[in-house]
Amino acid sequence: MRLTDDEKAMLDGAEGPAVAAAMDLLVRYGEALDCERLCDVRNVAGTMTQPSPVKAKLVAEGGWDRAFAVINLDSDEDLEIPQMRVATCQLQQGFSGDAAGIVPYPEQFVRLQDDAEAFYGRKGVTILATCTPYQVGNLPVRGEHVAWMESSAVVYANSVLGARTNCEGTASTGAASLTGKIPCWGNHLTQNRYGTHLVDVRVPVRDFFDWGLLGYFVGELVEEARPVVVGDLAVPELEDLKHFGAAAASSGGVELYHIPGVTPEAPTVQAAFGPRPVPEAVPYGPRERRRTYEALNSQGQHTEVDFVLLGCPHASIEQVRRAAKALDGRRLNSGTQMWIMVPRALKAVADRSGYTEVIERAGARLFTDSCPAMSRAAPPGTKVFATDSAKQAHYLPAILGIEAWFGTLEDCVEAAVTGRWAGELRCD
Ligand code: F3S
Repeated sequence: MRLTDDEKAMLDGAEGPAVAAAMDLLVRYGEALDCERLCDVRNVAGTMTQPSPVKAKLVAEGGWDRAFAVINLDSDEDLEIPQMRVATCQLQQGFSGDAAGIVPYPEQFVRLQDDAEAFYGRKGVTILATCTPYQVGNLPVRGEHVAWMESSAVVYANSVLGARTNCEGTASTGAASLTGKIPCWGNHLTQNRYGTHLVDVRVPVRDFFDWGLLGYFVGELVEEARPVVVGDLAVPELEDLKHFGAAAASSGGVELYHIPGVTPEAPTVQAAFGPRPVPEAVPYGPRERRRTYEALNSQGQHTEVDFVLLGCPHASIEQVRRAAKALDGRRLNSGTQMWIMVPRALKAVADRSGYTEVIERAGARLFTDSCPAMSRAAPPGTKVFATDSAKQAHYLPAILGIEAWFGTLEDCVEAAVTGRWAGELRCD
């Protein structure tokens, strides 16, 4: 790997042992990939505050410096952690104190997280505490190299913003935050950003629900490749693209897609494929749509619903507004809980706008920071849950051993109010 003079100096300890350890990690990572060089990053989205038993033990042994060295730098040395060199934000973490008494989540984790926030805040980490940093002001520009974790955020950054990142890990983002560097491979390189598959949509895709279905289909189809999607598509909203990408990253491992005329690197179909020939299109029609819906609902058997989850990836303020509108004047079934996950910054907006009050009057709750899949927490006794998120329907049954129903926001609100699932695929 070729290093610049300032990278060599960091590796040799000119900026202290923690930065040297970070650079050593990046060099090992890059060399394992046959990567030729590092690229400069000035925006890192990683995880430092997320509580775990291992982290609790490390903090008890040697404080937060030790926890960062071991978990975020893969180092056994005693290192004093300096200020973050570049803008760094915390993605989703555990549940916080405002979920106490409702979400079954260990109190010692809440305390550990509070401590972590204080420590890392002093080190220059912005505690956004959301899987959607792009919804709350962290918006890299087109062509900017960044180092992000979280599959749903990575696919959004690459595809919708035109920024460049691989799906990084806890250690590589930790090292990037102290050095402003990341191995320059994969999605950082122009030749790896062209489309590989063409999907021709032959049923109308107009709303959040259908964008999720389409994303789930596309992810299964292309796995880790780069789909280019054309056809009967309405101009998507932020929420639609958020859902589409998260679904494609769940059923496959999509990190980058193009929608000609919509996403920034694909003004045309040909531009999306660059120098490659445009491949034959794979159709997405009524049959594929139904098959995808049935796959997403294959984990549902019993129609009594204990729990309804909205906001995966974390809800936009528009999604919160729509949920409040659907719940206004209604009351949840006594045996059913409903949680809506939202970035903390947008919860403040929901509070001020009166949406939180409407939602809570119906018996539902807005929670921040985390989600059931990330924190392995659902209402006690949950056997069946319903969601409008393809990602959460994909993961939660395996994580918590519960049944899942997937449908529209309206289907989910109906299930929360009646306690029964009655969703079905419409306009088929
Ligand atoms: Fe976010 Fe949890 Fe979904 S972290 S993307 S709400 S699985």
